[in-house]
Amino acid sequence: MYREKRILLGVSGGIAAYKAVELLRLLVKAGADVHVVMTRNACEFVAPLTFQTLSGNPVHCELFNLIQEREIGHISLADRADLCIVAPATANVIGKVANGIADDLLTTTLMATKAPVLFVPAMNVNMWDNPLYRQNQERLVHHGYHFMTPAVGELACGWEGQGKLPEPAAIFDFAQDLVGSRDLAGRTVLVTAGPTREELDPVRYLSNHSSGKMGYAIARAARNRGARVILVSGPVALAPPEKVELVRVDTAREMHAAVLARCDEADVVVKAAAVADFRPAERAAGKMKKGDRQQTTLELVRNPDILADLGRRRGKALLVGFAAETDDLLENARKKLCDKGLDLIVANDVTEPGAGFGQETNIVRILDCNGTVETFPCLPKDEVAYRLLDLVRQRLSPGE
Ligand code: CTP
Repeated sequence: MYREKRILLGVSGGIAAYKAVELLRLLVKAGADVHVVMTRNACEFVAPLTFQTLSGNPVHCELFNLIQEREIGHISLADRADLCIVAPATANVIGKVANGIADDLLTTTLMATKAPVLFVPAMNVNMWDNPLYRQNQERLVHHGYHFMTPAVGELACGWEGQGKLPEPAAIFDFAQDLVGSRDLAGRTVLVTAGPTREELDPVRYLSNHSSGKMGYAIARAARNRGARVILVSGPVALAPPEKVELVRVDTAREMHAAVLARCDEADVVVKAAAVADFRPAERAAGKMKKGDRQQTTLELVRNPDILADLGRRRGKALLVGFAAETDDLLENARKKLCDKGLDLIVANDVTEPGAGFGQETNIVRILDCNGTVETFPCLPKDEVAYRLLDLVRQRLSPGE
């Protein structure tokens, strides 16, 4: 993966800067051409000569270094990178980029690059929890920047908690997904996400707990890997991802129409939405009054099964379904895979801690129609999305 890739390794000023040396070693060993950019503070923690010796390339620290500027220049550093990794990334560097500040070589390069950027934050636990920091991170994620979650443990400042730089080997693994990340260029991926809402009257509806996070993570991952992405989304509280064609719907029938109208354009359809199977038989025009009744009965009728309809049409698109279950996970997932004519199904037990609705993580098994099951540990939803797209990519015929 890393062979002959040009990696820009940004090192900002935290005690964990020494771990960036080990990361550099791993990258170089894997065949990458690594160029290190250090902030002035980082140079207080580790000598630039260490990075220079191990990378075999000059280390860049100053924005205007006349000799280096003539030879390489910060814009050319930004242009030539296949991937930028900032490890450790301080709250300061993250805050600056999130707010468009480019006042040193590292922040200038990060803002000028078109390559994927991975921030690996390391900081005091209270800084990590600070809502201002979180806003900055969310903003960057929204604009397509990648983040690794810091590890939990004893921090250099004496506090115990989240904020440690993950181990270099873990960063190396995580970044691997990003460096070969244009492998869906030229493909169209249609993703559905979120719940649907089935109105009873103008003020009430039936819905479910889906937050849309998994589907949005898939949409972002597919976009980052070069795909054109159509995201058909039920009502969610998430910011619309950049550079994704967002189609907002409310009801299952609207989602059905939106997906069927666009599925012929898609090479892949991923149905992460939690579609309501039933809707009220009638939607009252005015607010329903309780009157004297002590109980009432709702009549529900079936909604169309979007995925099953796609399976029946069997166009060119690879079909990926989700199975959110509470019992007999694999058995139910296998049944859905066959009944709906799918290529892959992502099964998760929503009762497992770390896998339920609204969480940042998911625990999934991915099944294909040959009976193969891939089991994954508890992973952030962004990572689940990447792993799923790896399996999708393997199943798309080459050069189509
Ligand atoms: N799905 C769909 N249209 C529906 C219901 C479900 O496209 N009307 C899709 C979902 O987006 C998901 C998959 O089918 O990818 C499985 O959804 P799930 O709710 O787990 O299963 P159901 O088929 O509804 O079966 P059941 O409710 O009996 O578990």
